[in-house]
Amino acid sequence: MMKAARFSHFGGPEVLEIVDLPDPHAGPGQIRVSVRAVGVNPTDWKLRRGLMGGELPQLTGRDVAGVVNAVGAGITDVRLGDRVFGFSDDGAGAAELALLSHYAPIPPSLGFAEAAALPVALETATRSLDALGVGTASGAGNTLLVNGATGGVGSAAVQLAVARGARVIGTASPANHAYLRSLGAEPVAYGPGLVARVRTLAPDGVDAALDVAGSGVLPELIELAGGPEQVVTITDFAGAQEHGVTFSRGDTGRAVHALAEIGELIEAGRFSLPVARTFPLAEIAQAHRLSEDGHVRGKLVLLVGRCGRGDGT
Ligand SMILES: NC(=O)c1ccc[n+]([C@@H]2O[C@H](COP(=O)([O-])OP(=O)(O)OC[C@H]3O[C@@H](n4cnc5c(N)ncnc54)[C@H](OP(=O)(O)O)[C@@H]3O)[C@@H](O)[C@H]2O)c1
Repeated sequence: MMKAARFSHFGGPEVLEIVDLPDPHAGPGQIRVSVRAVGVNPTDWKLRRGLMGGELPQLTGRDVAGVVNAVGAGITDVRLGDRVFGFSDDGAGAAELALLSHYAPIPPSLGFAEAAALPVALETATRSLDALGVGTASGAGNTLLVNGATGGVGSAAVQLAVARGARVIGTASPANHAYLRSLGAEPVAYGPGLVARVRTLAPDGVDAALDVAGSGVLPELIELAGGPEQVVTITDFAGAQEHGVTFSRGDTGRAVHALAEIGELIEAGRFSLPVARTFPLAEIAQAHRLSEDGHVRGKLVLLVGRCGRGDGT
């Protein structure tokens, strides 16, 4: 049996409980990982609150880092004991064991917590920048505005865009402006007057804009980028429909290749997704609460421990 976080009712963080469940078994194309760390994403609490549907009871957690302890048929690229990070196949990563089909080796300089911070933020940022053409030959995204630049996805998007050669302007609260500069972006405050503030830095506007925060600023982003085709949102579904902006979601064309590719930038010291705080798995409700407050710099990560598996954990 293994420990896993689960909820049997939709609701606040208090519905989360740690339960004993049977060990999952790796099917064809899957690996089973002894989980060491699990990244927390806003999707986790949106699912917990019932905002995204799903059946009950429901397990939780997408971002996983750990050690391979079983492989299914057809797996030839990893061996037992390898350190990997990736996506829990069924969104059930906040557990002692998880099944993964999309994974990559953990870059040598990263610990489990730092690796668990990466998958969702990295995949989403890569997919969004690709959709905007940032760094492509057309130069469409030479100057990029990121709204919500200091959370998980924003921090990743800023650094990836800088690595692609873009000039990046990012919105953040003033307390995060120094942090945003350290990522390579020029900070502006969010809130009323955004267009004028961005124009003081970029008088002709920007080439592309990515809305991560979903704070109702799509009209401003469209104005600054010169049209809805140059804007992508990952959060504001209704606004995207209303303003003709692309809504990018994980179930279409996932950029999972980003996991295997990021090691080079990390080892070169050009990409780092800070772990703002870690929590033991038993304190998952507290981590959800903090994520739900909406002002985490970088990522929150749950630490999972397990003894006696015979795989070094
Ligand atoms: N469609 C997809 O494929 C997809 C994938 C992943 C995530 N998402 C969604 O994308 C959103 C962001 O995810 P995330 O992991 O980056 O979240 P996160 O880490 O929780 O984001 C926190 C950040 O949001 C910033 N923020 C808060 N209010 C803001 C505002 N009004 N304007 C600008 N920035 C603001 C905060 O900056 P300050 O502290 O400086 O205020 C903080 O750094 C979530 O809604 C998530 O569900 C969608």
